[in-house]
Amino acid sequence: MFEKLPKRVTITEVGPRDGLQNEPEWVPTEVKAEFIRRLAATGLNKIEITSFVHPKWIPPLADCAEIGKRFSHMDDVETTALVPNMKGLEGATAAGIQEAAVFMSASETHNKKNINKSIDETLTQFAELIPEIKRRGMRAQAAISTAFGCPYEGEVDPDRVVSIARELLDYGADGISLGDTVGVGNPLQVKRLLERLLELLDAERVTMHFHDTQGTAVANAVASLEMGITRFDGAVGGLGGCPYAPGASGNVPTENLVYTFHGMGVETGIDLEKLLDVGAFIQEQLGHPLPSNGLKAYLGRKSHAESAAQPAS
Ligand code: HMG
Ligand code: MG
Repeated sequence: MFEKLPKRVTITEVGPRDGLQNEPEWVPTEVKAEFIRRLAATGLNKIEITSFVHPKWIPPLADCAEIGKRFSHMDDVETTALVPNMKGLEGATAAGIQEAAVFMSASETHNKKNINKSIDETLTQFAELIPEIKRRGMRAQAAISTAFGCPYEGEVDPDRVVSIARELLDYGADGISLGDTVGVGNPLQVKRLLERLLELLDAERVTMHFHDTQGTAVANAVASLEMGITRFDGAVGGLGGCPYAPGASGNVPTENLVYTFHGMGVETGIDLEKLLDVGAFIQEQLGHPLPSNGLKAYLGRKSHAESAAQPAS
Protein backbone atom coordinates (compact mmCIF):
# COMPACT_ATOMS: atom_id res chain seq x y z
CA MET A 1 0.00 0.00 0.00
CA PHE A 2 1.13 3.55 -0.83
CA GLU A 3 4.27 2.28 -2.56
CA LYS A 4 3.83 3.79 -6.00
CA LEU A 5 2.25 7.16 -5.34
CA PRO A 6 2.72 9.97 -7.89
CA LYS A 7 5.40 12.48 -6.84
CA ARG A 8 3.34 15.49 -7.83
CA VAL A 9 -0.32 16.24 -8.49
CA THR A 10 -2.30 19.20 -9.86
CA ILE A 11 -5.21 20.51 -7.86
CA THR A 12 -7.79 22.65 -9.63
CA GLU A 13 -9.40 25.09 -7.22
CA VAL A 14 -13.11 25.15 -8.04
CA GLY A 15 -14.20 27.46 -5.20
CA PRO A 16 -14.91 30.46 -7.44
CA ARG A 17 -17.26 28.29 -9.53
CA ASP A 18 -18.60 25.24 -7.69
CA GLY A 19 -18.24 27.09 -4.40
CA LEU A 20 -19.84 30.39 -5.22
CA GLN A 21 -22.56 28.93 -7.49
CA ASN A 22 -24.20 27.64 -4.35
CA GLU A 23 -24.13 30.83 -2.24
CA PRO A 24 -27.58 32.09 -1.29
CA GLU A 25 -26.57 35.78 -1.29
CA TRP A 26 -25.02 37.67 -4.19
CA VAL A 27 -21.23 37.78 -3.88
CA PRO A 28 -20.00 41.08 -5.36
CA THR A 29 -17.77 40.81 -8.41
CA GLU A 30 -14.95 42.60 -6.55
CA VAL A 31 -15.04 39.97 -3.79
CA LYS A 32 -14.88 37.20 -6.39
CA ALA A 33 -11.98 39.01 -8.06
CA GLU A 34 -10.04 39.34 -4.81
CA PHE A 35 -10.78 35.68 -4.01
CA ILE A 36 -9.32 34.58 -7.35
CA ARG A 37 -6.29 36.88 -6.99
CA ARG A 38 -5.52 35.48 -3.54
CA LEU A 39 -5.99 31.89 -4.73
CA ALA A 40 -3.59 32.51 -7.62
CA ALA A 41 -0.94 33.63 -5.12
CA THR A 42 -0.97 30.32 -3.21
CA GLY A 43 0.87 28.30 -5.84
CA LEU A 44 -2.26 26.75 -7.37
CA ASN A 45 -1.67 25.91 -11.05
CA LYS A 46 -5.27 25.81 -12.15
CA ILE A 47 -8.46 27.63 -11.13
CA GLU A 48 -12.04 27.15 -12.31
CA ILE A 49 -13.02 30.79 -12.33
CA THR A 50 -16.68 30.79 -13.38
CA SER A 51 -19.40 29.19 -15.46
CA PHE A 52 -20.91 30.35 -18.75
CA VAL A 53 -24.39 29.15 -17.91
CA HIS A 54 -27.77 30.86 -17.89
CA PRO A 55 -28.02 33.47 -15.11
CA LYS A 56 -31.63 32.43 -14.51
CA TRP A 57 -30.42 28.94 -13.67
CA ILE A 58 -27.31 29.97 -11.71
CA PRO A 59 -27.80 33.59 -10.55
CA PRO A 60 -24.62 33.73 -8.36
CA LEU A 61 -22.42 33.53 -11.48
CA ALA A 62 -24.26 36.13 -13.54
CA ASP A 63 -21.00 38.12 -13.77
CA CYS A 64 -19.24 35.32 -15.69
CA ALA A 65 -18.34 37.59 -18.64
CA GLU A 66 -16.62 40.13 -16.37
CA ILE A 67 -14.81 37.55 -14.24
CA GLY A 68 -13.85 35.60 -17.35
CA LYS A 69 -12.40 38.64 -19.08
CA ARG A 70 -10.40 39.77 -16.04
CA PHE A 71 -8.93 36.41 -15.09
CA SER A 72 -8.69 34.33 -18.26
CA HIS A 73 -4.94 34.89 -18.37
CA MET A 74 -2.97 34.83 -15.16
CA ASP A 75 0.75 34.21 -14.72
CA ASP A 76 1.41 30.52 -14.06
CA VAL A 77 -2.28 29.68 -13.56
CA GLU A 78 -4.36 27.86 -16.14
CA THR A 79 -8.01 28.90 -16.22
CA THR A 80 -11.02 26.75 -16.80
CA ALA A 81 -14.76 27.44 -16.82
CA LEU A 82 -17.95 25.43 -17.24
CA VAL A 83 -19.53 25.59 -20.69
CA PRO A 84 -22.83 23.73 -21.24
CA ASN A 85 -23.54 24.62 -24.88
CA MET A 86 -22.63 26.76 -27.91
CA LYS A 87 -23.95 29.92 -26.27
CA GLY A 88 -21.72 29.28 -23.27
CA LEU A 89 -18.79 28.64 -25.60
CA GLU A 90 -19.32 32.03 -27.24
CA GLY A 91 -19.03 33.64 -23.80
CA ALA A 92 -15.95 31.63 -22.87
CA THR A 93 -14.29 32.43 -26.20
CA ALA A 94 -15.00 36.16 -25.85
CA ALA A 95 -13.44 36.05 -22.37
CA GLY A 96 -10.38 34.15 -23.59
CA ILE A 97 -10.80 31.14 -21.28
CA GLN A 98 -8.09 28.51 -21.80
CA GLU A 99 -10.14 25.40 -21.09
CA ALA A 100 -13.86 24.82 -21.60
CA ALA A 101 -15.35 22.17 -19.34
CA VAL A 102 -18.51 20.59 -20.69
CA PHE A 103 -20.58 18.75 -18.11
CA MET A 104 -23.34 16.18 -18.02
CA SER A 105 -24.60 13.55 -15.62
CA ALA A 106 -24.48 9.77 -15.71
CA SER A 107 -28.05 9.68 -14.39
CA GLU A 108 -31.01 10.80 -16.48
CA THR A 109 -32.94 12.73 -13.80
CA HIS A 110 -29.99 14.81 -12.61
CA ASN A 111 -28.99 15.57 -16.19
CA LYS A 112 -32.48 16.79 -17.01
CA LYS A 113 -32.78 18.92 -13.87
CA ASN A 114 -29.29 20.36 -14.27
CA ILE A 115 -29.05 21.09 -17.98
CA ASN A 116 -32.58 20.51 -19.23
CA LYS A 117 -31.75 17.69 -21.63
CA SER A 118 -31.78 13.90 -21.76
CA ILE A 119 -28.43 12.11 -21.76
CA ASP A 120 -28.83 11.25 -25.47
CA GLU A 121 -29.67 14.85 -26.37
CA THR A 122 -26.65 16.04 -24.43
CA LEU A 123 -24.31 13.59 -26.14
CA THR A 124 -25.64 14.67 -29.53
CA GLN A 125 -24.94 18.29 -28.58
CA PHE A 126 -21.45 17.50 -27.26
CA ALA A 127 -20.56 15.64 -30.47
CA GLU A 128 -20.51 19.11 -32.05
CA LEU A 129 -19.52 21.22 -29.07
CA ILE A 130 -16.31 19.37 -28.13
CA PRO A 131 -14.78 19.52 -31.65
CA GLU A 132 -15.76 23.21 -31.81
CA ILE A 133 -13.95 23.89 -28.51
CA LYS A 134 -10.84 22.26 -29.98
CA ARG A 135 -11.16 24.20 -33.26
CA ARG A 136 -11.09 27.38 -31.19
CA GLY A 137 -7.76 26.34 -29.68
CA MET A 138 -9.07 25.61 -26.20
CA ARG A 139 -8.58 22.49 -24.14
CA ALA A 140 -11.80 20.44 -23.89
CA GLN A 141 -12.46 18.94 -20.50
CA ALA A 142 -15.53 16.74 -20.01
CA ALA A 143 -17.10 16.25 -16.58
CA ILE A 144 -19.40 13.35 -15.74
CA SER A 145 -21.51 14.17 -12.68
CA THR A 146 -23.35 11.70 -10.44
CA ALA A 147 -20.67 9.13 -11.35
CA PHE A 148 -20.94 7.49 -7.91
CA GLY A 149 -24.62 8.04 -7.13
CA CYS A 150 -27.56 10.27 -8.00
CA PRO A 151 -29.69 12.31 -5.57
CA TYR A 152 -32.84 11.27 -7.48
CA GLU A 153 -32.08 7.76 -8.76
CA GLY A 154 -29.68 6.40 -6.13
CA GLU A 155 -27.12 3.95 -7.49
CA VAL A 156 -25.53 4.69 -10.84
CA ASP A 157 -24.37 1.83 -13.06
CA PRO A 158 -20.58 2.11 -13.65
CA ASP A 159 -21.18 0.77 -17.20
CA ARG A 160 -23.17 3.93 -17.86
CA VAL A 161 -20.32 6.13 -16.66
CA VAL A 162 -17.74 4.27 -18.74
CA SER A 163 -19.87 4.31 -21.89
CA ILE A 164 -20.48 8.09 -21.56
CA ALA A 165 -16.73 8.60 -21.05
CA ARG A 166 -16.04 6.56 -24.19
CA GLU A 167 -18.38 8.78 -26.25
CA LEU A 168 -16.88 11.99 -24.87
CA LEU A 169 -13.37 10.77 -25.69
CA ASP A 170 -14.51 9.83 -29.20
CA TYR A 171 -15.70 13.41 -29.69
CA GLY A 172 -12.19 14.61 -28.79
CA ALA A 173 -12.29 15.42 -25.05
CA ASP A 174 -8.77 15.98 -23.73
CA GLY A 175 -9.66 14.93 -20.21
CA ILE A 176 -12.44 13.26 -18.25
CA SER A 177 -13.52 14.37 -14.81
CA LEU A 178 -15.52 12.02 -12.61
CA GLY A 179 -17.81 13.86 -10.22
CA ASP A 180 -19.18 12.52 -6.97
CA THR A 181 -21.78 15.27 -7.09
CA VAL A 182 -23.61 14.16 -3.96
CA GLY A 183 -20.57 12.88 -2.04
CA VAL A 184 -21.77 9.31 -1.59
CA GLY A 185 -18.89 7.32 -3.10
CA ASN A 186 -16.43 5.18 -1.13
CA PRO A 187 -12.81 4.19 -1.85
CA LEU A 188 -13.67 0.70 -3.13
CA GLN A 189 -16.19 2.15 -5.57
CA VAL A 190 -13.55 4.65 -6.71
CA LYS A 191 -11.01 1.89 -7.28
CA ARG A 192 -13.48 -0.25 -9.24
CA LEU A 193 -14.70 2.59 -11.45
CA LEU A 194 -11.16 3.80 -12.12
CA GLU A 195 -10.01 0.29 -13.05
CA ARG A 196 -12.64 0.38 -15.79
CA LEU A 197 -12.07 3.96 -16.88
CA LEU A 198 -8.29 3.59 -17.09
CA GLU A 199 -8.80 1.01 -19.84
CA LEU A 200 -9.93 3.96 -21.99
CA LEU A 201 -7.35 6.65 -21.19
CA ASP A 202 -4.16 7.37 -19.27
CA ALA A 203 -4.37 8.35 -15.61
CA GLU A 204 -2.88 11.81 -16.35
CA ARG A 205 -6.03 12.68 -18.30
CA VAL A 206 -8.42 11.85 -15.45
CA THR A 207 -9.56 14.34 -12.80
CA MET A 208 -11.42 13.35 -9.65
CA HIS A 209 -14.04 15.75 -8.28
CA PHE A 210 -15.25 14.76 -4.83
CA HIS A 211 -17.89 16.27 -2.60
CA ASP A 212 -17.68 15.52 1.11
CA THR A 213 -21.27 14.83 2.20
CA GLN A 214 -20.38 11.56 3.96
CA GLY A 215 -16.85 12.55 4.99
CA THR A 216 -15.33 10.13 2.47
CA ALA A 217 -13.82 12.65 0.07
CA VAL A 218 -10.19 12.57 1.25
CA ALA A 219 -10.28 8.76 1.51
CA ASN A 220 -11.61 8.69 -2.05
CA ALA A 221 -8.82 11.02 -3.19
CA VAL A 222 -6.22 8.76 -1.59
CA ALA A 223 -7.76 5.72 -3.30
CA SER A 224 -7.50 7.63 -6.60
CA LEU A 225 -3.91 8.58 -5.88
CA GLU A 226 -3.12 4.91 -5.42
CA MET A 227 -4.60 4.28 -8.86
CA GLY A 228 -2.11 6.77 -10.32
CA ILE A 229 -4.48 9.76 -10.61
CA THR A 230 -2.66 13.10 -10.59
CA ARG A 231 -5.51 15.60 -11.04
CA PHE A 232 -8.00 16.59 -8.37
CA ASP A 233 -10.58 19.30 -7.83
CA GLY A 234 -11.06 20.93 -4.46
CA ALA A 235 -12.68 24.04 -3.02
CA VAL A 236 -11.04 26.01 -0.25
CA GLY A 237 -13.05 25.93 2.97
CA GLY A 238 -15.16 23.07 1.56
CA LEU A 239 -17.29 25.59 -0.32
CA GLY A 240 -19.72 24.31 -2.86
CA GLY A 241 -22.54 22.14 -3.99
CA CYS A 242 -24.81 21.78 -6.96
CA PRO A 243 -28.15 23.62 -6.71
CA TYR A 244 -29.68 20.68 -8.62
CA ALA A 245 -28.34 18.05 -6.19
CA PRO A 246 -30.42 18.31 -2.99
CA GLY A 247 -28.68 17.01 0.12
CA ALA A 248 -25.19 17.35 -1.30
CA SER A 249 -22.65 19.27 0.70
CA GLY A 250 -19.49 21.08 -0.30
CA ASN A 251 -16.47 20.01 -2.28
CA VAL A 252 -13.55 18.33 -0.62
CA PRO A 253 -11.69 21.20 1.05
CA THR A 254 -8.56 21.94 -0.98
CA GLU A 255 -6.61 22.39 2.27
CA ASN A 256 -7.53 18.86 3.38
CA LEU A 257 -6.21 17.48 0.09
CA VAL A 258 -3.02 19.54 0.34
CA TYR A 259 -2.45 18.53 3.98
CA THR A 260 -2.94 14.85 3.22
CA PHE A 261 -0.92 14.81 0.00
CA HIS A 262 2.02 16.73 1.45
CA GLY A 263 2.03 14.46 4.49
CA MET A 264 2.28 11.47 2.14
CA GLY A 265 5.19 13.02 0.23
CA VAL A 266 3.09 14.05 -2.80
CA GLU A 267 3.82 17.61 -3.96
CA THR A 268 1.12 20.08 -5.03
CA GLY A 269 3.12 23.32 -5.32
CA ILE A 270 0.56 24.94 -3.00
CA ASP A 271 1.51 26.86 0.14
CA LEU A 272 -0.91 25.42 2.72
CA GLU A 273 -0.68 28.38 5.10
CA LYS A 274 -1.45 30.88 2.34
CA LEU A 275 -4.35 28.73 1.15
CA LEU A 276 -5.82 28.61 4.66
CA ASP A 277 -5.59 32.40 4.81
CA VAL A 278 -7.63 32.56 1.61
CA GLY A 279 -10.18 30.24 3.26
CA ALA A 280 -10.37 32.64 6.21
CA PHE A 281 -10.79 35.56 3.80
CA ILE A 282 -13.68 34.06 1.85
CA GLN A 283 -15.40 32.77 4.99
CA GLU A 284 -15.34 36.30 6.41
CA GLN A 285 -16.64 37.78 3.17
CA LEU A 286 -19.48 35.27 2.92
CA GLY A 287 -20.42 35.80 6.54
CA HIS A 288 -21.14 32.19 7.42
CA PRO A 289 -18.98 29.31 8.63
CA LEU A 290 -17.54 27.01 5.97
CA PRO A 291 -17.58 23.25 6.54
CA SER A 292 -13.84 22.54 6.29
CA ASN A 293 -12.38 20.93 9.41
CA GLY A 294 -8.88 21.93 8.19
CA LEU A 295 -9.95 25.57 8.13
CA LYS A 296 -11.63 25.31 11.55
CA ALA A 297 -8.46 23.84 13.06
CA TYR A 298 -6.32 26.58 11.48
CA LEU A 299 -8.54 29.39 12.76
CA GLY A 300 -8.64 27.78 16.21
CA ARG A 301 -4.82 27.62 16.31
CA LYS A 302 -4.53 31.19 15.11
CA SER A 303 -6.91 32.62 17.65
CA HIS A 304 -5.22 30.62 20.43
CA ALA A 305 -1.81 31.97 19.37
CA GLU A 306 -3.17 35.52 19.21
CA SER A 307 -4.71 35.37 22.68
CA ALA A 308 -1.49 33.84 24.08
CA ALA A 309 0.44 36.78 22.59
CA GLN A 310 -1.81 39.39 24.31
CA PRO A 311 -0.09 40.97 27.33
CA ALA A 312 -1.74 39.90 30.60
CA SER A 313 -3.82 42.74 32.02
P1 HMG B 1 -32.33 25.85 -21.57
O1 HMG B 1 -33.39 26.71 -20.96
O2 HMG B 1 -32.70 24.46 -21.92
O3 HMG B 1 -31.63 26.55 -22.80
O4 HMG B 1 -31.11 25.82 -20.52
P2 HMG B 1 -32.14 26.81 -24.27
O5 HMG B 1 -31.06 26.35 -25.17
O6 HMG B 1 -33.53 26.27 -24.47
O7 HMG B 1 -32.23 28.42 -24.33
C1 HMG B 1 -33.17 29.16 -23.54
C2 HMG B 1 -32.65 30.57 -23.33
O8 HMG B 1 -31.43 30.49 -22.55
C3 HMG B 1 -32.27 31.31 -24.61
O9 HMG B 1 -32.49 32.69 -24.37
C4 HMG B 1 -30.79 31.09 -24.73
O10 HMG B 1 -30.13 32.09 -25.46
C5 HMG B 1 -30.38 31.13 -23.26
P3 HMG B 1 -33.80 33.46 -24.94
O11 HMG B 1 -33.77 33.22 -26.43
O12 HMG B 1 -34.96 32.76 -24.28
O13 HMG B 1 -33.60 34.85 -24.47
N1 HMG B 1 -29.13 30.37 -23.02
C6 HMG B 1 -28.07 30.82 -22.33
N2 HMG B 1 -27.84 31.99 -21.71
C7 HMG B 1 -26.63 32.15 -21.14
N3 HMG B 1 -25.67 31.18 -21.11
C8 HMG B 1 -25.89 30.00 -21.71
C9 HMG B 1 -27.14 29.80 -22.34
N4 HMG B 1 -27.65 28.74 -23.00
C10 HMG B 1 -28.88 29.10 -23.41
N5 HMG B 1 -24.94 29.07 -21.69
C11 HMG B 1 -28.81 25.50 -19.89
C12 HMG B 1 -29.98 25.02 -20.77
C13 HMG B 1 -27.72 24.47 -19.95
C14 HMG B 1 -28.32 26.83 -20.42
C15 HMG B 1 -29.34 25.68 -18.44
O14 HMG B 1 -29.94 24.49 -18.05
C16 HMG B 1 -28.27 26.05 -17.48
O15 HMG B 1 -27.69 27.13 -17.52
N6 HMG B 1 -27.99 25.16 -16.49
C17 HMG B 1 -26.98 25.45 -15.49
C18 HMG B 1 -26.56 24.19 -14.85
C19 HMG B 1 -25.44 24.43 -13.88
O16 HMG B 1 -24.63 25.31 -14.04
N7 HMG B 1 -25.42 23.59 -12.81
C20 HMG B 1 -24.41 23.64 -11.83
C21 HMG B 1 -23.08 23.21 -12.36
S1 HMG B 1 -22.93 21.44 -12.57
C22 HMG B 1 -22.21 20.92 -11.12
O17 HMG B 1 -22.15 21.67 -10.17
C23 HMG B 1 -21.60 19.56 -11.06
C24 HMG B 1 -20.07 19.59 -11.18
O18 HMG B 1 -19.51 20.37 -10.14
C25 HMG B 1 -19.51 18.17 -11.10
C26 HMG B 1 -19.98 17.39 -9.87
O19 HMG B 1 -20.07 17.91 -8.76
O20 HMG B 1 -20.19 16.18 -10.08
C27 HMG B 1 -19.63 20.17 -12.52
MG1 MG C 1 -19.33 19.75 -8.03
